Amino acid sequence: MTLPTKTPSLAVYGLGIIGSRVADLLSAASYPLGTWSRSSRSRPDFDDDAAALADRSEVILFFLKDAPAVRETFEAIRPTLRSGKSLINHATIDLETTLFLESECRAAGCGFLNAPFTGSKVAAGNGKLVYYCGGDSSVLEDLRPILDVSSPQIIPMDSASQATVVKLTTNLISACTVQALAESLRISRAHGVPAETLLDAIQGNACGSALAAMKVPTMEAEDYDPHFSLSNMLKDSRYAIDLAEKAGLNTPAIRCVSKEMDTLNRKGLGEQDFSILNSQFKSDNSH
Ligand SMILES: NC(=O)c1ccc[n+]([C@@H]2O[C@H](COP(=O)([O-])OP(=O)(O)OC[C@H]3O[C@@H](n4cnc5c(N)ncnc54)[C@H](OP(=O)(O)O)[C@@H]3O)[C@@H](O)[C@H]2O)c1
Repeated sequence: MTLPTKTPSLAVYGLGIIGSRVADLLSAASYPLGTWSRSSRSRPDFDDDAAALADRSEVILFFLKDAPAVRETFEAIRPTLRSGKSLINHATIDLETTLFLESECRAAGCGFLNAPFTGSKVAAGNGKLVYYCGGDSSVLEDLRPILDVSSPQIIPMDSASQATVVKLTTNLISACTVQALAESLRISRAHGVPAETLLDAIQGNACGSALAAMKVPTMEAEDYDPHFSLSNMLKDSRYAIDLAEKAGLNTPAIRCVSKEMDTLNRKGLGEQDFSILNSQFKSDNSH
């Protein structure tokens, strides 16, 4: 790994499924690194003072859950933002919060890049995330070596808001696809078709996908170890519905899946993988 001539000090905020793995990669790549999360961690680079960490770091990376988490953490570090520093938002958030971060960073003279991503727990561990990057192109070029540590592919977007829209609309496809896969799996099994046969048929079909290859076997095994949590997919579905409403669009598929996810979330299943959508048919004999 080649480091840039001057190696910037980094701070990763949010040590969940993805942030913890990216922090490990950045540390292994010899970047000076500090980490912060809402709940304490026993890492040597952990700092429980969000503002102090931001104050001594040149590049701040957010891997936080949602818009409230981003806004709360941003308020804590806002006084430390100034010229010569940059904030990269990797969290999937709503459009308003994206625009808020962009304008607040600009007002503070701080660089801003909106870089939501695709790729889950395994991809993060292997440095194979794909970033959708929107913001000032010179900021992207300055920060590219940092992104390269966890990503073989950076897809530039025309603006910060475009990156958010693309992230939310692609997650809409994933949520609806997993719902469709679960329905297809349940119906097939009810009629004696094994999951392997169905998966072979799907992968030879135009509807085949990496998502199907990943989720059909785990749904069949009822393995819902979280790669991407139900609660996170639920919030993304709400942000996507909000985007649709703002465009005057009715989007029945994501509304329906969002409702199913809300029901499961209320049952306390929010931290399971979102493919737990597959469990919703278990006691449902009424349809
Ligand atoms: N996992 C994936 O496959 C995937 C893929 C694409 C995009 N994303 C997006 O990337 C982001 C991170 O994903 P993840 O899977 O790592 O999420 P996660 O495991 O749920 O972790 C979320 C992080 O946010 C922190 N957090 C939650 N509420 C907070 C609050 N109110 N204030 C401050 N911090 C708060 C948590 O802190 P504590 O743990 O310390 O409490 C945790 O560190 C999310 O926006 C997600 O939608 C994830």
